[in-house]
Amino acid sequence: MIRFEKVTKEYDEETVAVKDITFEIPSRELTVLIGPSGCGKTTTLKMINRIIRPTAGRILIDGSDVTEMDIRQLRRGIGYVIQNVGLFPHMTVKDNIATVPKLLKWERSKIDVRVEELLQLVGLEPKSYANKLPKELSGGEAQRVGVARALAADPPIILMDEPFGAVDPLTRVRLQDEFARIQEELHKTIVFVTHDIDEAIRLADKIAVMKGGRILQFDTPEEILARPVEKFVHDFMGSDRALKRLSRIPVLEYIEKSETIDINGGWEQLGVTKEEFVWALDDSKKLIGWVDVSHSSRELPLREALTEMLEEEILSPDSTMKEALSRMLESGTMALPVVERSGRFLGQISLSKIQELTKSVREEE
Ligand SMILES: Nc1ncnc2c1ncn2[C@@H]1O[C@H](COP(=O)(O)OP(=O)(O)OP(=O)(O)O)[C@@H](O)[C@H]1O
Ligand SMILES: [Mg+2]
Repeated sequence: MIRFEKVTKEYDEETVAVKDITFEIPSRELTVLIGPSGCGKTTTLKMINRIIRPTAGRILIDGSDVTEMDIRQLRRGIGYVIQNVGLFPHMTVKDNIATVPKLLKWERSKIDVRVEELLQLVGLEPKSYANKLPKELSGGEAQRVGVARALAADPPIILMDEPFGAVDPLTRVRLQDEFARIQEELHKTIVFVTHDIDEAIRLADKIAVMKGGRILQFDTPEEILARPVEKFVHDFMGSDRALKRLSRIPVLEYIEKSETIDINGGWEQLGVTKEEFVWALDDSKKLIGWVDVSHSSRELPLREALTEMLEEEILSPDSTMKEALSRMLESGTMALPVVERSGRFLGQISLSKIQELTKSVREEE
């Protein structure tokens, strides 16, 4: 746990970057600091690894005051991804990642193994990337190397200052997904700075909303979306809070049973149904597509009434209700199937379920 106790940072008389903040960053979770430019996010982050010293107050890591810790030992336990990546330009990807292990005088073979493992983890093929220079990487690849470098010596704490700030929106979402997966596996204590509210909601266990050097609200994304404490937080979260809350709700809880048909059988499997279509499965309960069950299509053999699904029309159990909604809007369908990685069909998410959910969310607000 990282505890801020009445921490203030004054750069000079006019600039009080951080004003008397007290809060606790839980271990093994991801805490986001968010707020407008100049509100004190980077300053707050840099006080944790003592790049900046507080003017007043204390910061404790698991009970130890950071100003009293041996600086090398302190920094060894903290990985840092700086704003705008900050890779060393004349060092290869491999040497960039190996920076801290080398300082720690790890054996060469151990470093090689670690670099390879980390490149795999962040989705870069070691053979093609290890010997590249930063200028030979795309923005997204450079960000991945930045993350790998911060993880290199397996520190329990990682500080990330807008780590995905410099890439296009699509790459950004992909990096977020990958990073969420990495965190699910590693459970580091992460302090993550961003301007992007969707990124915060997607990744955070807790969010601290900052303004003018203060923390206005510190809570779970669900709670901040449902009950913003003041107008600034309310406005900062945006006008579509109900939709944003959908992005914190996994589809798993809302899967409905729905009619299916075995594609290897015939129409006689289907009794009287009020549905317009049913999901078609094969012998092993894998989803093949859907069939229109109107009378005219029943004159065809069942296989000919089949429409196969596009990959982007299929939800997985860890998709969110927000994803379900946007895919329905894109594909113009009122229901989408949920399928396990193995291909097994679990049921469907319907537009009416999402409407019910947003209605109850709105009423709560
Ligand atoms: N070294 C410094 N000397 C003087 N003032 C500084 C210094 N560093 C930051 N500041 C000021 O402190 C305030 C907080 O800066 P900080 O970098 O923490 O903001 P931030 O929230 O990270 O902003 P951004 O989102 O733009 O990165 C700003 O007003 C900034 O101008
Ligand atoms: Mg900053």
